[in-house]
Amino acid sequence: MRDGPGLSESIMNTSNAPVTTIDGGTHAQFATGMRCASALTIQGACKTYKRPNGPQFLALTPVDAEVREGEFVSLVGPSGCGKTTLLKMCSGLMSLSGGKIVHGRTGQKVQPGSYGFVFQVPALLPWLTVFNNVLLPARILGLPIKEAKDRAALLLDMVGLGNAHQKRPSELSGGMQQRVSLARALLHDPDLLFMDEPFGALDAMTRADLNMELQRLHMSQGKTVLFVTHDIEEATLLSDRILVMSANPGRIVADIPVKLPRPRGLAAKKDPQFYAVVERIHQLLDKRTVGRLVP
Ligand SMILES: Nc1ncnc2c1ncn2[C@@H]1O[C@H](COP(=O)(O)OP(=O)(O)OP(=O)(O)O)[C@@H](O)[C@H]1O
Ligand SMILES: [Mg+2]
Repeated sequence: MRDGPGLSESIMNTSNAPVTTIDGGTHAQFATGMRCASALTIQGACKTYKRPNGPQFLALTPVDAEVREGEFVSLVGPSGCGKTTLLKMCSGLMSLSGGKIVHGRTGQKVQPGSYGFVFQVPALLPWLTVFNNVLLPARILGLPIKEAKDRAALLLDMVGLGNAHQKRPSELSGGMQQRVSLARALLHDPDLLFMDEPFGALDAMTRADLNMELQRLHMSQGKTVLFVTHDIEEATLLSDRILVMSANPGRIVADIPVKLPRPRGLAAKKDPQFYAVVERIHQLLDKRTVGRLVP
């Protein structure tokens, strides 16, 4: 039993299995309002990179985790601890060196059409208009274009870019480009959304706006989100659970539920529980990462 600040956290043992919960419940029950169905099951997933001029590098020790349908789960941890690696393995963009990751609905590997991926940089095609960038997944996945066009227009309205259809990415601000990238990730209505530090390069005001937009989207559409961020307050504001990672080798060291009511606006940051979570994560990261950052 680990005594967190009133949190029902789990501290992982070396095999990453949850070993304690303070109130004796299971994460899925208390963190997600009794959601049951699994969206993503990660079992013994590990990654070893081959390096051309050196020994193999163990980036991620076997990780076990479960993400439930409709959950918003964040990964936080020091640079190099394997967050991007884990996210890419979950989406099937990168192969596993061991273990397996399956999509709850199918019990199979996550298929391209079932997820949207928002990268750290918007990665829009500069020669296409905003509208055609958003439409891209429909063309790649061979979806009916008429319906996809209607949905692209709706999504661009939703992210506040209804008047930017014909603009090129270079005519947009960084925040606007990231909104386009978000709309593109949602075009094919995926049930899973993977987001790798999507707002890292944005100014604080734009980031706060997009946080609110993402929260609205998560609440209204019930997407399952796996989100990487270095910003602990951002993770706390948005997440149902936060998986804290450590480096050398990369692993999950704690699973922290965030039980604040939604929607969470600025007032949520004044809630003592908000700061209890933030403090706890800082504490975990300080203890486990001092002197351990990967060069
Ligand atoms: N293609 C690769 N070949 C060899 N090593 C790699 C490769 N990709 C990542 N790594 C190594 O694996 C480790 C984990 O990398 P990863 O990008 O997953 O970390 P991260 O937690 O996302 O870091 P950051 O917060 O800086 O984005 C790092 O030490 C990195 O150097
Ligand atoms: Mg990364």
